[in-house]
Amino acid sequence: MSELYEWRALLRSATDTEQLGRFIGQSLQGGEVLALYGELGTGKTTLVRGIAAGLEVPPHIVNSPTFVLIHEYQGRVPLAHVDLYRIEAQPELQHIGISDYLDGQTVVAIEWADKGLLELPDNRFEVYLSHRSARTRKVILRARGTAMRGLLARVLKQHEALKAADSLQLARPIR
Ligand SMILES: Nc1ncnc2c1ncn2[C@@H]1O[C@H](COP(=O)(O)OP(=O)(O)OP(=O)(O)O)[C@@H](O)[C@H]1O
Ligand SMILES: [Mg+2]
Repeated sequence: MSELYEWRALLRSATDTEQLGRFIGQSLQGGEVLALYGELGTGKTTLVRGIAAGLEVPPHIVNSPTFVLIHEYQGRVPLAHVDLYRIEAQPELQHIGISDYLDGQTVVAIEWADKGLLELPDNRFEVYLSHRSARTRKVILRARGTAMRGLLARVLKQHEALKAADSLQLARPIR
């Protein structure tokens, strides 16, 4: 099993979530798979808006790809934003050509990554969002695989520099 590192924080507003996304976006090198988990309205799309901004995609164009299933943006590196919520079966995924985006160049951000329709690579960056209150969310960032650990370290370096969210604990290996 690949190494797993995680970090948790509280996000006190949508702005905090977007800011964390921006740190992630600024830390990406291209080709990373970002698996986003969390119930309805926990902020997955909000986070992707920040990620896009961090990748230098104009932020206002990022909306949920709920109906078209995938959006592709051109930033510093390409970004594919996928929402599996409405996808019911594998053929639909094949139809949108999901595997074409897993090309090692494109950053692929996947909402509802836990639907079990898509086989995710062992090396991936996971974001778990959950409701704490109307505006507060808990976030867990998990780096799976050595390369993703570097990504997590870069995100935390930026976070520590700006302290946009209150850290609950520092990054540490949990397995
Ligand atoms: N701390 C927060 N982080 C993120 N969103 C927040 C926060 N506080 C309030 N919100 C609001 O919650 C909503 C989150 O919506 P968003 O579309 O980002 O969630 P989602 O997880 O993508 O939902 P869905 O499962 O429907 O795709 C937005 O209206 C946002 O303004
Ligand atoms: Mg969404």
